[in-house]
Amino acid sequence: MEEQEVFQMPRIGDPAPDFKAMTTTGMMQFSEYIKGGWTILFSHPADFTPVCTTEMTGFAVLEDEFRKMNTKLVGLSIDSIHSHVAWVNNVKEKTGIFMKFPIIADIDMKVAKLYGMLQPGEHETAAVRAVFFIDPNAKIRLIMYYPLNVGRNMDEIIRALQALQTADEHKVALPLNWKPGEKAIVPPPKTIAELEERLKSNYEMVDFYLAKRDL
Ligand code: BEZ
Repeated sequence: MEEQEVFQMPRIGDPAPDFKAMTTTGMMQFSEYIKGGWTILFSHPADFTPVCTTEMTGFAVLEDEFRKMNTKLVGLSIDSIHSHVAWVNNVKEKTGIFMKFPIIADIDMKVAKLYGMLQPGEHETAAVRAVFFIDPNAKIRLIMYYPLNVGRNMDEIIRALQALQTADEHKVALPLNWKPGEKAIVPPPKTIAELEERLKSNYEMVDFYLAKRDL
């Protein structure tokens, strides 16, 4: 049987692996770029392909929205810098949408392998559609992986970022389909005294272990 190369898969809670790479905005030392805020690092399989173009323009249109949320964007594909530059220029000419955020030229697959974006069962030489949410402490907080033939959902990417930031700010957990303005989960009681307190509370409650409060 043919032996498959085993690639590292970063996990939630891991420090974001550092690297130096060429991008459409110049050389990037990732650990420097991500300092002081949130970062979304995302890969696409290839420049000049249809689904990728819809996704990358989706990120570009919302770049200001991400900036307001103290979040920088970084794209990546296993393409050359020349291909990236030509594609960014072509998309701008055809759609009027300019991808201002840096796009990493990962022609040697170094970063794709470091971040588990190369998944040979899906494709040997193209990155899957990965999204890494990295917090201001350079920790990976949420990971999405999509296959080559299904585009991501920008509403969910924004919602996930809002949820991470809200959970941190208020030290709460957030339920299914949570959106800004909705109630958060109150941590379950850990002692009998807390349980008795909970049963007397005004929280919206299914039972003592599932209670919600306004933020
Ligand atoms: C696309 O972006 O359309 C695409 C790229 C690689 C494989 C399949 C679809």
